[in-house]
Amino acid sequence: MAEIRKVGVVGLGAMGAGIAQLCIEAGVDTVGREVSVELGEKARERIGHFLTRKVEKGQLEQGARDEAVGRLTLTTGLDAIAECDLVIEAIVEELEPKQELFAELDRICGPDAVLATNTSALSVTEIAAAASAPGRVVGMHFFNPAPLMPLVEIVRAELTDDGPFEAAFSFGERIGKSPIRCHDTPGFVVNRVLIPLLNDCIRVLDEARVTPEDLDTGLQNGAGWPMGPCTLVDLVGIDVHVHASEALYEKTREPRMAPPPRLVAMRNAGLLGRKSGRGFYSYD
Ligand code: 3HC
Repeated sequence: MAEIRKVGVVGLGAMGAGIAQLCIEAGVDTVGREVSVELGEKARERIGHFLTRKVEKGQLEQGARDEAVGRLTLTTGLDAIAECDLVIEAIVEELEPKQELFAELDRICGPDAVLATNTSALSVTEIAAAASAPGRVVGMHFFNPAPLMPLVEIVRAELTDDGPFEAAFSFGERIGKSPIRCHDTPGFVVNRVLIPLLNDCIRVLDEARVTPEDLDTGLQNGAGWPMGPCTLVDLVGIDVHVHASEALYEKTREPRMAPPPRLVAMRNAGLLGRKSGRGFYSYD
């Protein structure tokens, strides 16, 4: 496989911005693509903010921060992405737009480029099927918040070739993660366990008539979780969690995968968690 000198990140929401941050901090030139200049600038500001916090806390030199920010270029088209050796997709969690994107990436990127999807619950194999060279498509599943969570799952789809698979694994290590290898099954490794577990937690809210605060305290103090389930679902995004649950339920038909009605109602009411300012808790 060719050396990865330049990375493209398509979609700069919370996950894409976090992934781009990891790349530039690791010294890799990165092209970030958003659909509008405004959304791209918003992501740059978010990344700049977190890097500034690191400087303020003595974890990063000011010069290194500025150099990292300088490695990020923004684009609204896909032309600049065509020059990248690795492209990581983090757009909306819908199969059709992802397939359209991978068909286009496959057409415009060089033959050695590795194409990765950050999907959390869709099938990497189905996304790869849109590319005429599915052997170079791999899953790179990061966890929220991407700059802080050490894991990235490197997901082998049915037709993924060894070279791109190992290139994605090595790149995960290069940006400071602890990658693990797995096959393309619904939810891969962590979400296969975490999504039904979080759904159980939300059902317990009603069954045990416990408050979100007490449930969070329970799991933190009784099971050693770093944050309680209601805080975590607020962080991930209630819409994102409901969508991932629906996708896993569709594939497995396991009742525990199905989103609890309480979460669906919250999603329908626009209570999306931290990003909307209100979920189980309120945020400024
Ligand atoms: N991006 C970049 N930097 C961030 C950030 C982000 N999104 N969020 C916080 N930071 C930085 C901040 O600068 C913060 O410092 P500051 O508050 O002084 O500015 C710094 O990180 C440290 O933050 P915290 O003090 O909050 O760090 P903690 O030690 O409390 O740990 C945590 C935070 C790592 C998030 C920890 O609470 C944790 O491990 N929580 C569990 C998270 C988890 O389970 N994630 C997985 C979700 S499932 C998923 O993602 C799958 C997907 O498919 C849905």
